[in-house]
Amino acid sequence: MSQVLVIAASQQKVSQSRKVADYIKHQVENLGAEADVLDLGLNVLPLWSGEPASDPEQMSAIRAQLDGASSFVFVVPEWNGMAPPAIKNLLTWFGAGQFAHKPALLCAISAGQGGAFVIAELRGSSYKNSRICYLPEHLIIRSVGDVVGSENPTDQSDSYYRDRMDFALKDLLAYDQALAAIRPAALERMKGFTNGMS
Ligand SMILES: Cc1cc2nc3c(=O)[nH]c(=O)nc-3n(C[C@H](O)[C@H](O)[C@H](O)COP(=O)(O)O)c2cc1C
Repeated sequence: MSQVLVIAASQQKVSQSRKVADYIKHQVENLGAEADVLDLGLNVLPLWSGEPASDPEQMSAIRAQLDGASSFVFVVPEWNGMAPPAIKNLLTWFGAGQFAHKPALLCAISAGQGGAFVIAELRGSSYKNSRICYLPEHLIIRSVGDVVGSENPTDQSDSYYRDRMDFALKDLLAYDQALAAIRPAALERMKGFTNGMS
């Protein structure tokens, strides 16, 4: 069965990213797959420096969560036109061993009208060594404070975003099944070329 890990990439302890991640987890479960949330605001990784992790148990727990996932949703806020350092840091601590040839749905969020830079930034190069497979479909949730804040949609925009999330999650689960079939051979081939070209 598909195991979707929804990563809330805000560094804030209480975040809009987590609100959206919890909603997505619920919707994935409604679609018949298993889902979990990794909140980078609560699971604070040290900034990668080449030194061993000060809390190896924390690293092992996160590695196990990433290893166990067959696909991902990255819920990423736009901060100063960028993705927050926490998601880059996660992609530095971990890599192909956890992400290669697994599908990932990008979901940018913004309190205002932003979000596109996050999509462009992560699509731009973060797949290179991780070999994560970003779906062609992505989500940009604008005015996120007005979205999925209650059990039922509060207006047309909230309703649209909920429909759009379900649409994209159905794609994610289809890719999850499809890529599972090619992943073992793709991982084997990768042994000869451990880094992507740049
Ligand atoms: C440091 C910082 C920088 C921000 N820069 C942007 C920005 O460039 N574009 C934008 O649309 N929103 C920006 N925002 C607003 C965020 O989109 C908004 O706070 C969002 O809800 C943050 O998500 P979070 O609650 O998951 O951290 C910024 C917020 C913070 C804290």
